[in-house]
Amino acid sequence: MIIIGSNSEVAQAFVEKALEAGEKYPFIYLFSSHPETTEKFAKHIEVKYLQQSRIIPVNLMQEINYNEFDEISTNLVFCAAGYLGEGTADGLYDNKNTEKIIDINYAKLVPLLNHFAQKLEAKRGGTIIALSSVAGERGRQSNFIYGSAKAGFTAYLSGLRNYLYDKKVHVLTVKPGFMDTKMTEGLPLNPKLTASPKQAAERIYKAYKSGKNVLYVLPIWAIIMLIIRNIPEFIFKKLKM
Ligand SMILES: NC(=O)c1ccc[n+]([C@@H]2O[C@H](COP(=O)([O-])OP(=O)(O)OC[C@H]3O[C@@H](n4cnc5c(N)ncnc54)[C@H](OP(=O)(O)O)[C@@H]3O)[C@@H](O)[C@H]2O)c1
Repeated sequence: MIIIGSNSEVAQAFVEKALEAGEKYPFIYLFSSHPETTEKFAKHIEVKYLQQSRIIPVNLMQEINYNEFDEISTNLVFCAAGYLGEGTADGLYDNKNTEKIIDINYAKLVPLLNHFAQKLEAKRGGTIIALSSVAGERGRQSNFIYGSAKAGFTAYLSGLRNYLYDKKVHVLTVKPGFMDTKMTEGLPLNPKLTASPKQAAERIYKAYKSGKNVLYVLPIWAIIMLIIRNIPEFIFKKLKM
């Protein structure tokens, strides 16, 4: 298994869920932009589950050397990399913030996923699970740079699923809604609309096992987004969302 964004609590909860369910992997490849932080988790799964792992430093803000991944073989890619960035007017007009959001959520992430999609296609089997966002379903003033990158990412995953279908590779798009993680630390989230990393991991694992295509982590988000998508634009543009 490959994990992209290994320091995400959701990614770590997913790994634990899979290991608790009895899944066995020769290695788990923990891709991370903060490899020194990932070491604690690598140690944890070694001690608790006797699971071997390799930490692979990857920073989506820097050039990626794909030759370094030649030896990596996998059946499952779990991608939790993402970056919320600043959604305020200051952030919106700050090119560094804008580029970082677009790079981490889409522009640099897609070539990395493509690299492993190609490997799975050649093997004719496997699964890619990737976390996108409900923010990609309609641009809102509070985070539309992030939302637009996630919209592109969701469209990419949909097309990839379509392309890989007859190559026996499955793609699961996860649209989390709110999750209680370091990304949303300090944000006033409604607890009824917010999943814990463990809850999210359990639902993602179940969706993976049942071959689901698109998962809203909490089902209520499917209804919320149905409403948001259908608000007429002449009303929507006046709402401070
Ligand atoms: N939390 C929410 O409410 C929420 C809602 C909707 C969607 N999501 C999406 O769910 C996914 C997981 O997010 P999370 O809530 O677990 O937040 P998170 O803890 O911030 O996880 C995102 C991970 O992305 C990786 N990352 C950040 N910058 C990177 C870079 N420059 N290069 C490579 N990797 C980088 C980091 O892992 P490393 O340090 O290991 O690199 C980080 O742990 C993300 O795609 C996020 O957009 C979250």
